[in-house]
Amino acid sequence: MTVSPPVTTAFSDSDETDVVDLYLRHIGSGRAVMGRVMGGMAEVRSEGPWIHTDDGRRFLDFGGYGVFILGHRHPAVVAAVHRQIDTHPLASRVFLEPVAARAAEALAAHTPPGLDYVHFVNSGAEATEAALKLARAHGRNAVVTTRRGFHGKTLGALSVTANATYQTPFQPLIPDVTQVTFGDAAHLEKALTTRRDRACVVLEPVQGEAGVRIPEPGYLRQVSDLCRAYGALLVVDEIQTGLGRLGTWWGVDAEDVRPDIMLVGKGLSGGVVPVAAMTATEAAYAPFSRDPYLHTSTFGASPIACAAALATVETMEREETVARAAVLGSRILAGVRGTCAPYLGGLVREVRGRGLLIGIEFAEEQAVGELLLELIARDVLVNHSLNSTRVLRLTPPAVVEDSTLDLFFTTLAEALLTVAARLAG
Ligand SMILES: Cc1ncc(COP(=O)(O)O)c(C=O)c1O
Repeated sequence: MTVSPPVTTAFSDSDETDVVDLYLRHIGSGRAVMGRVMGGMAEVRSEGPWIHTDDGRRFLDFGGYGVFILGHRHPAVVAAVHRQIDTHPLASRVFLEPVAARAAEALAAHTPPGLDYVHFVNSGAEATEAALKLARAHGRNAVVTTRRGFHGKTLGALSVTANATYQTPFQPLIPDVTQVTFGDAAHLEKALTTRRDRACVVLEPVQGEAGVRIPEPGYLRQVSDLCRAYGALLVVDEIQTGLGRLGTWWGVDAEDVRPDIMLVGKGLSGGVVPVAAMTATEAAYAPFSRDPYLHTSTFGASPIACAAALATVETMEREETVARAAVLGSRILAGVRGTCAPYLGGLVREVRGRGLLIGIEFAEEQAVGELLLELIARDVLVNHSLNSTRVLRLTPPAVVEDSTLDLFFTTLAEALLTVAARLAG
């Protein structure tokens, strides 16, 4: 391995506190060890596609688990959040909050037709929780989810996150959850026949954490039709795929599907403040609409988070981020395919993607970790995939310059060559 992790890490030039040691003592040994393996640096600054570490290095961030569609600290979002901090960051929750109202209006202007209601929360998992509870409020207690699907790790969300590694230690989870094969409409229909009018289907349009699994064209439409036919509530999780990540506002746009509930997160933050949302049709939302105390959270829909969400949507409109993501995504996918071509059938099994969500599937698990570290050694960050250990995931921002792309392809080629030679030797 070419990466030799330093033993200690400083916050900044002036503060010599050992971050790894603090992690060991106060956050956890696992994360501390991981930090060491990744090089021992601490990240201290960011802008656009770049992250800076305390040792003076600058990394191209093609990772971030899908959060940074607008890059880090987009100036328009930062300015909006600053203004909000200077005026009214957190609300009394007694009076109405104008920023929440405007952010909901802005988001609803882009959701599929009919999804006019917005319930802001603090994280993706909370959006899933809200959806599961809303489904229950309609008597939809039988949840159908997809194998390898990822929807978060709080107890309810974990119940529909189909990964035994994360589920097993926390059993029993919520009851009556069935997993069906992603992409197999017949399997879904079989599950729905015995759960008529009691079912809630939860799925991603493209599975992200499962390693960028793209269903055959027509699948989402079939899912939607089956939900209508069997009286099931359809929850589409766009937390990773939404807000331009796939080169469209939403993954469901490809098949003109209108879910009852749609979840949004990650990119809604503008790379600045954590915020997510559950959006719903008027009919689906009715129980929450009637009773605002049925599902609440102290920090949910805070002015500061809503200022970030509003500025994010407005920035995406102004900068035509979705169209840019589509163009950039095609270019990056073609470039990654070209770079990986010499290894296809050997080290690399497949390169797949849509928009700015791209997966490289390897023949063996080891290649993912090795390539991740080789890229870090060359100042590039990418993601692994929680529900598919053989897939390296790229989630670049839509704000990358063309010259930076060339740098990325050259770096990827060098890193692949090193890993291929090592694994062959
Ligand atoms: C599709 C999807 N749903 C839900 C989540 C959970 O979001 P969070 O990590 O913000 O709780 C994720 C996170 O990766 C995700 O990709």
